[in-house]
Amino acid sequence: MSLLEVRTLVAGYGDANILNGVSLDVAAGRIVTLIGPNGAGKSTVLKAITGLINRRGGTVTLDGLEISALATEQIIAAGVGYVPQVANVFPSLTVAEHFAIGGGGDRAEARERVLGYFPLLRPQLRKMASVLSGGERQMLAMARALMLRPKLLLLDEPSAALAPQIVQSVFDRIAAIARDGVAVLLVEQNVKAALPISDYAYALQVGRNALEGTGPELLDDPRLHDVYLGVGGSQKPSPA
Ligand SMILES: Nc1ncnc2c1ncn2[C@@H]1O[C@H](COP(=O)(O)OP(=O)(O)O)[C@@H](O)[C@H]1O
Ligand SMILES: [Mg+2]
Repeated sequence: MSLLEVRTLVAGYGDANILNGVSLDVAAGRIVTLIGPNGAGKSTVLKAITGLINRRGGTVTLDGLEISALATEQIIAAGVGYVPQVANVFPSLTVAEHFAIGGGGDRAEARERVLGYFPLLRPQLRKMASVLSGGERQMLAMARALMLRPKLLLLDEPSAALAPQIVQSVFDRIAAIARDGVAVLLVEQNVKAALPISDYAYALQVGRNALEGTGPELLDDPRLHDVYLGVGGSQKPSPA
């Protein structure tokens, strides 16, 4: 049994279904990546897992607990950390304040633990998030999501808007988090950077599973190109 099991998930906005039966698995300590063209429904999968949008069919199971019908705060409490693609830090709060707000438990202990993953944040504790670099901001958003010791970490395009030389260090940190037993579900456009560190990957196309395999298998799969061409007409997997 995988830590996260998503089975034939159906979800959408308004009258429209965007996800038409998506299934995927993430085991503890693994990095699983969701790729696919813009609009395929990747972010919608993360929003459906966290209960931010209503699920209309299928099941989501976390560590044996069916979370499909739970409210977002219960899902977070059950062990899901979520880092949205945008607006994932508070620009006018300092780094230290990000660690002080929200959640219970021993905040100081948790802060030390997450700074272990992101030592670059330590000298920035008194700075406002608005003055951090893109990479530091992404690390702060991930650090905050780790404060509650999630079993599953959902990351929506952590490499978007990052300078190429920073992408690798962010992915190194994601790999370190997974090595400590956290299941990571990563949404990425940057397939050339993400697939090599992925244990497994799924390509979505218009809200359905299209291809899957280990990271290297999918990277070499000639059909991947068609998945990207199938929606939007001319998109390609973005270069590293
Ligand atoms: N809040 C929303 N309301 C209505 N439609 C939305 C909303 N968010 C996303 N969509 C639509 O859902 C589809 C999938 O979007 P999304 O999951 O963001 O795709 P991806 O992350 O793969 O680029 C798109 O057609 C998008 O326009
Ligand atoms: Mg998206």
